[in-house]
Amino acid sequence: MQGKRILLIVGGGIAAYKSCELVRLIRREGGEVTCVLTAGAAHFVTPMTLAALSENPVHTTLWDLDAEAKMGHIQLSRQADLVVVCPATADLMAKMSAGIADDLAATLLLATDKPVLAVPAMNVRMWQHAATRRNVATLRSDGVDVLEPDEGPMACGEFGPGRLPEPAAILAAITAKLGDTAKPLAGKHVLVTAGPTHEPIDPVRYIANRSSGRQGFAIAEAAARAGARVTLVAGPVALPTPPGVTRVDVQTAREMAAAVDAALPADAAIMVAAVADWRVAAEAGQKLKKDGSGEIPPLTLTENPDILARLARAPNRPRLLVGFAAETEHVVAHAEAKLAKKGADWIVANDVSGDVMGGALNAVHIVRAGGVESLPEMPKAAVAAALIERIADALS
Ligand code: C5P
Repeated sequence: MQGKRILLIVGGGIAAYKSCELVRLIRREGGEVTCVLTAGAAHFVTPMTLAALSENPVHTTLWDLDAEAKMGHIQLSRQADLVVVCPATADLMAKMSAGIADDLAATLLLATDKPVLAVPAMNVRMWQHAATRRNVATLRSDGVDVLEPDEGPMACGEFGPGRLPEPAAILAAITAKLGDTAKPLAGKHVLVTAGPTHEPIDPVRYIANRSSGRQGFAIAEAAARAGARVTLVAGPVALPTPPGVTRVDVQTAREMAAAVDAALPADAAIMVAAVADWRVAAEAGQKLKKDGSGEIPPLTLTENPDILARLARAPNRPRLLVGFAAETEHVVAHAEAKLAKKGADWIVANDVSGDVMGGALNAVHIVRAGGVESLPEMPKAAVAAALIERIADALS
């Protein structure tokens, strides 16, 4: 919390008095608070109280000539690390979900580009009303974090869900949300392909390669840990799905290409899969049999789609496109050639002449238009962490 800036928008409900305690708790944890009061909120708590507790000016109106001369409301909405609406009244959430900007609080909420946490408090019937349910659902699908209210006796004498959570619980939610925003890939969608593909010859035989999927899975895991939403399109491998990762299992290159298309749009795509370059042109419907004639069945191959090259030319191309190059000789030179040929932004090259495929260690060279960065041999998880750090930098 140390040094984090919270813009606290206080709505007009009886629970507004608890916002004073919340300000105190945030300050005690080292956070900075700037308060905005709606006209309704000012009936429950005074600007003076919140100014004294926050040690910051309190804002109450859009029509502040001095502040607005410096684009006050836009600035206020952008300076925070997190916007907290507490209490979030039914009225304020209705305005937020509809995009109404008819006072300072609502305007800030429409103008902000920062994460928003809403802490509702209202009468139980208002909370359960279809209009509020709709508004909360809209806000959540718009990316606003709406906390569930507590259940219990209410100021109005009724009982049920609608009470503001205790300030300590709100503080915990704020801390968790700030933790999320500290994650460098929060809000980003990262697409990873991993593993080999299996290209059927007949119902029981296939063409494959030695890729274990370990490097791709480690990259998906590191991206999820960095806060990204991760889609992992995995060829046939026996690996557990990393926590927080959405996995799509495929067998063939064509299935992988379709799964990649279906997962778009993505902010970054990291194509680690060892996709089979060729498949059998005509897969046999039945198991091929030795017929005793001594004749060997011819296997005519045809080329698979190049998923990476296709993605590079796609209209919804991810902003950052990273390919891998498994080489057994002239590793960097081949990767440099591949960068241009495939249209990727980076190619991560590795020498697979040893036991990299299936092994625990990897030594990679990151080839970009601007030059080559060679990393020493390290565990695949460490290669993944190093790559994700660079990818987060590139996307920021
Ligand atoms: O051409 P090569 O197979 O060496 O290229 C490797 C890179 O291209 C990897 O990123 C791999 O995932 C991707 N690739 C692909 N579709 C193919 C072949 C390779 O996406 N059919």
